[in-house]
Amino acid sequence: MTAEAPVGIFDSGIGGLTVAHAVMQQLPRESVTYFGDTARVPYGPKSPETVRRYSLEIAAFLVEQQVKTLVVACNTATAHALPLLRERLTIPVIGVIEPGARAAVRATRNGHVGVIGTAGTIKSGAYERALRALEPSLRITARACPLFVPMVEEGWVDHEATRLIAREYLAPLQSEEVDTLVLGCTHYPLLKHVIADVLGPDVTLIDSAEETARETALVLRDQRLTAHNPAGPAHRFIASDDPLMFLQLGQRFLGDAIDGVEVKTLG
Ligand code: DGL
Repeated sequence: MTAEAPVGIFDSGIGGLTVAHAVMQQLPRESVTYFGDTARVPYGPKSPETVRRYSLEIAAFLVEQQVKTLVVACNTATAHALPLLRERLTIPVIGVIEPGARAAVRATRNGHVGVIGTAGTIKSGAYERALRALEPSLRITARACPLFVPMVEEGWVDHEATRLIAREYLAPLQSEEVDTLVLGCTHYPLLKHVIADVLGPDVTLIDSAEETARETALVLRDQRLTAHNPAGPAHRFIASDDPLMFLQLGQRFLGDAIDGVEVKTLG
């Protein structure tokens, strides 16, 4: 494995481009190969077995593309498949849950942390485990917000209906006085301002993308895999469906850094 090989990143769709963006900002010499499983999104309501199968298929494909490390940008895939991927792959595998949990433990002042995510992520209890491993005395309130993903996909990031639903979902977190909320889903950072409006300025919102990119940098350094790429990085974006749609939405996240999308069907 050479240090000039790309960092592999995958998500159930385009949401993980927030993680790709953070990796590109923090590690400007690293090439990224991104796979978005747009043909099979959403993962949130699917069974753990199905998400594990999809994750293994994508990981095998990215390993074939010679990636030197794998970043699982999808919270649901991290929740269900991270231990299995770590067991099966010989390259380092980084998830989004541990980094998000670390940032939350650092941020909380009253020791009461909220977590929101897809039904699969919340049901798995993965965030609770990661948070308690870091700080056993934490109080944790977790809530699934399944309607947020389709609202973001619809582009309703600043819509009255989204505000109404956010108020409904977030009411229990508000009444329990969490002071830190983990946005435990790739799409939720796009609703940051709606969530912040509902919860008010005293609640710190944790977006795990930045923290995950930091962890990626550390892992590469530890493994002596940091790239130099004097000619500059070469990124690739691959979707399992409709490349044009991916390109259009992808440019919203990444601007000019994405100028083409390949298609690969899995399964
Ligand atoms: N990428 C998923 C996550 O972060 C959200 C979209 C989906 O349900 O597939 O949990």
